[in-house]
Formats: sequence, C-alpha cells, structure tokens
Amino acid sequence: MRTLRVLTLLSAAVLLCSAAPGLAPLTCSEGNGPAAADKAVHHINEYHDHGYKFRLHEVQGNSVEQVDGGCNVKLQLDLRETKCHTTNPKPFEDCELRRETQRAVKANCTVLMTIKDGDATITKYECDTRQVNTNSEMVRICPDCPVLLPLNDSEGLKSVHEATTEFNKNTSNQHYYVLKEVGRISSGYIMTSGMNYYAEFALVETRCPMGSRIVIEACTPLCPDRARHAFCKSSYSSENGLLSNDCDFYPAENTTALGPDEKEPDCRHHGRRPPHSHGGPPPHAYDHGHGPLHMLTTMVMA
Ligand SMILES: *[C@@H]1O[C@H](CO)[C@@H](O)[C@H](O)[C@H]1NC(C)=O
Ligand SMILES: *[C@@H]1O[C@H](CO)[C@@H](O)[C@H](O)[C@H]1NC(C)=O
Ligand SMILES: *[C@@H]1O[C@H](CO)[C@@H](O)[C@H](O)[C@H]1NC(C)=O
Ligand SMILES: *[C@@H]1O[C@H](CO)[C@@H](O)[C@H](O)[C@H]1NC(C)=O
Repeated sequence: MRTLRVLTLLSAAVLLCSAAPGLAPLTCSEGNGPAAADKAVHHINEYHDHGYKFRLHEVQGNSVEQVDGGCNVKLQLDLRETKCHTTNPKPFEDCELRRETQRAVKANCTVLMTIKDGDATITKYECDTRQVNTNSEMVRICPDCPVLLPLNDSEGLKSVHEATTEFNKNTSNQHYYVLKEVGRISSGYIMTSGMNYYAEFALVETRCPMGSRIVIEACTPLCPDRARHAFCKSSYSSENGLLSNDCDFYPAENTTALGPDEKEPDCRHHGRRPPHSHGGPPPHAYDHGHGPLHMLTTMVMA
C-alpha cells in the first residue's frame, strides 16, 4: 500500500516533468512574471542557433491583458550573453556570464506570449543586442582591454584558419573538422609582439577520415545531431603567428552506431531545427546586423 502511494506520487511527478520540462505551469495571474520570463528565455535559447546562449538578468516589464479564455502577456527582458556557444550542450542556466572587462553583451527583448488553458505560446520576440558598455565607456573603464572586431575581420579570420589547420593535425580525432562559425574576435596591442588577435570559434566534425589526403575545407559536415563539435579559443600575433589554441569537445547528440551496410545519413533536407521540436510552422527569423556581435534573432511565430 505504502509502496503504491510512493509509486503514484513518482509517476505524477514524471507526468508533470514531461509536460513542461523543468518549467512551472503558467497562469494569467499578475505574479506570473518570473515563470513567464523563464519560459521565454528557454524558448529564445532553443531557437538561437548561432553565437552564444543567453541568461535572464532582469524582468523589466510584465503586462497581462485578460482576453477570452486566457490572456496576452508582454514581457520586457534584460538578458546577458554567456560564455557557452550554442553548440555547447550545457543548460544555459549553468553557463558563466562574461565580465564587464570581457566585453559583456546584453539583449533587450520584447516577448509576446499567449496563455490559454494553461498552455503558453510565444507569438513573437524581438531583441536588441549590444555591448553592456559602449566602446568609449570601455576606454575609460579598461583602456588596455582588447576591443571586439567585426566577425569578418580579415586578420582575425586568418588567425582562425591557422588555428583550425593546427587543430586538424591532432591525430586523436577520427575525422577532420571544419569551421562552423566565428563567435568573437578581439584584438589588443602588445609591446613585445605587436597586434594580438584572440578568437573564439566553433568547429564541426566532417565525413572526411583523419589522415585522408583531401582539401579539408571541401569536407562536408556530418549531420548536426551526429557530429561532434569543438569550441576553440586561440591567440595569434601578427609577428609570431599562432600562439595558442585550446579547444573543448562536445559529444554528438546521436551516438547510435550505423549498421554495417548503413550509409552516413544525408541531412541536406533537415535544416537546422531547435532540439526536441515537434513540427509546427517554421518561424520567420530576421537576423539584423553584422559587426562584432551575434545578434539575438527576431522571431515571428505566426
Ligand atoms: C528596451 O526596449 C524597449 C522597446 O523597444 C524600450 O522601450 C526600452 O527603453 C528598452 N530598454 C533599455 C534598457 O534599453
Ligand atoms: C564585413 O562585412 C561588412 C558588412 O557586410 C562589410 O561592409 C565589410 O566590407 C566586410 N569586411 C571585410 C573585411 O570583409
Ligand atoms: C586532440 O584531440 C583529443 C580528442 O580527440 C583531445 O582530447 C586532445 O586534447 C587533443 N589534443 C590537443 C593537443 O589539442
Ligand atoms: C540517430 O541516427 C540514426 C542514423 O541516422 C537514425 O536512424 C536514428 O533515428 C537517430 N536517433 C535519434 C534519436 O535521432
């Protein structure tokens, strides 16, 4: 009898978890701000497939408009960029934030949400991403801190390509890796070695076996869920070339081995979907801006 009750409680808990993983159920009461913001940040990170994950800093506004059978919620959120690239499997809640001197980045997001019958749907969000301190404020706070360069800076990209070539000399890897994305490039002048470039970038595992004599840049990446990823931080000086390159490895999401006659799946048509999404209309995404930062994309879910 006692065991049965414990079991019932446990399965009730499991049901709750599977309905909304880790999230509190949402109601239309005025006190729903933190829970709605939590839902919104999960959603934003789930659809954010480039750059870095974000964490909530502050809920700056929460207005609830009661409508038939539920309510419309408008949130104003202040988010902060973490050091976890989107390929990092770590939950965003556990990711470290950048310090001010590391050119911290914030996003001011307006999120529209509809709550009906206890079900919350995000219909639109729009974020304005920028450095927490402007470049001129940074000159005052930390005159010697490296400055962020545009992600297409040619000398910065040269440092990334040198680091990637170095990375692919590591024969412990099964396959070659190619550049997936540059996360950040910064530079600073050092008396003894001239201009120094500090880059963060994500690499993706390809189909080309390590040691094969091919043009690595032409190798096709494995499907996003079957590829390992690496996230690297390099330093490079224009005078002395590559100084260091440290990489973290992230395991593939899907490690199911292929059968003896099974070919590596063709993932051209998969597109990039948020993990665990179950269909539904693809959202419209508008990615504004070039420059030194990865913007949070504006999404319309309609
Ligand atoms: C955030 O964006 C909203 C809407 O665009 C604006 O009204 C608000 O002033 C912004 N907040 C900050 C801190 O920039
Ligand atoms: C970087 O991109 C911007 C915007 O697309 C462009 O104006 C600029 O010329 C590019 N710079 C380099 C070095 O390619
Ligand atoms: C080489 O790659 C392995 C993983 O395949 C990694 O554990 C190791 O740290 C790498 N070595 C260097 C010198 O980067
Ligand atoms: C893992 O990859 C294999 C081969 O593409 C596929 O058949 C299987 O469905 C995948 N598993 C998951 C959980 O996606």
